[in-house]
Amino acid sequence: MSTIAYQSLNPPSRILLGPGPSNIHPRVQIAMSALMVGHLDPYFISIMEDTTRLLRSVFRTQNELTFPVSGTGSAGMEAGFDNFLEAGDTAVIGSNGLFGERMVDNAQRTGAQVIPVTADWGRIIEPESIEKALKSQKKVKLLAVVQAETSTGALQPLLEIASLCKRYGALFMVDTVTSLGGHEVAVDDWGIDICYSGTQKCLSCPPGLAPFSVNAAAMAVLKSRTTKVKSWYLDLALLSNYWSTGTRFYHHTAPISMIYALHEALALVVEEGLEVRVKRHLRNGGALQAGLEAMGLTLHAQKGHRLSSLTTVGVPEGIDELKIRQQLLNEYSIEIGGGLGPLKGKIWRIGLMGHSSTAENVLLVLAALGKLLSKAGFRADTAAGEMAAIQLLS
Ligand SMILES: Cc1ncc(COP(=O)(O)O)c(C=O)c1O
Repeated sequence: MSTIAYQSLNPPSRILLGPGPSNIHPRVQIAMSALMVGHLDPYFISIMEDTTRLLRSVFRTQNELTFPVSGTGSAGMEAGFDNFLEAGDTAVIGSNGLFGERMVDNAQRTGAQVIPVTADWGRIIEPESIEKALKSQKKVKLLAVVQAETSTGALQPLLEIASLCKRYGALFMVDTVTSLGGHEVAVDDWGIDICYSGTQKCLSCPPGLAPFSVNAAAMAVLKSRTTKVKSWYLDLALLSNYWSTGTRFYHHTAPISMIYALHEALALVVEEGLEVRVKRHLRNGGALQAGLEAMGLTLHAQKGHRLSSLTTVGVPEGIDELKIRQQLLNEYSIEIGGGLGPLKGKIWRIGLMGHSSTAENVLLVLAALGKLLSKAGFRADTAAGEMAAIQLLS
């Protein structure tokens, strides 16, 4: 008899309204328990092919190399920088939150020169600041920004930055981890050269894969590298041999059950329709934000540039932010997130992503938060909050 202490697996049922993961659809849960086959089995290869087709539709791209990198969203980020930067290159990176900072760190590790363009956490990066940075360098190889900054709730506009990239001859890379499947993302129409995402946010799939898409222009730049990509695992030239129809040359054993899950999650996105899905996120995010303001709280992210997939709201003076989050979890089984870095203790982050973005969840979190805040001594006008939300939901 073993003496090792362990428990039988029995996770609680949670309403996941944090910065990710979101709740997953029952069909995705079932897909994960589908029978195992070999990773070169013709059946699995047909699922890989479906998955790339579905991903192209969700990224709105014709890019041949569109596939899920094995690893979480950060693996997608790292694949982007490791492949497209090397010592001697220069990159300009928007940094207005934790994930912008992570991009800067990733880029610096390649040995490239990195010019961060900063803004306060909660504000967007102004295109003028980007242009100033582009102008200041002889040649910028890559410009990267986060579309949906999960640490601040800011939604970065991309069109002007895309045209600056064209004008200055820089590759344009965008992090869509908290936007793909919830906000509009149009890789081809917007001139994005390299785009990556994560599965656990608006796609409502478990964490574990990083959808990735790269166009032919960027692949041509990749060929001009003078040094080998340092990461063998994330080397796009090798990965493309595995993910391209026809070759299927073994690289690593694909995480089969995760790809089943992503296949099902993407099928759900396509069945709902991208436009309808984006509208659902907009409606629910807008209702939550109106409700929080009507309750007497202050939204954190810059007005006019707020995410609908993730709302940031200020913690009122004198309120213990961690205690409220613990009460939400213990009393209502609702998970929300706290602030990170300079926003630690100052904001809450409330996600309404994918399968979690519902009218019921908007009303539930407003009611629960309002009740707990009132109990803690903040005069939250919960009824006004619910009324403001319902008006936008009906
Ligand atoms: C905008 C953004 N980029 C990158 C990441 C990293 O993704 P992961 O935690 O899946 O590695 C996250 C995760 O929250 C994110 O929100």
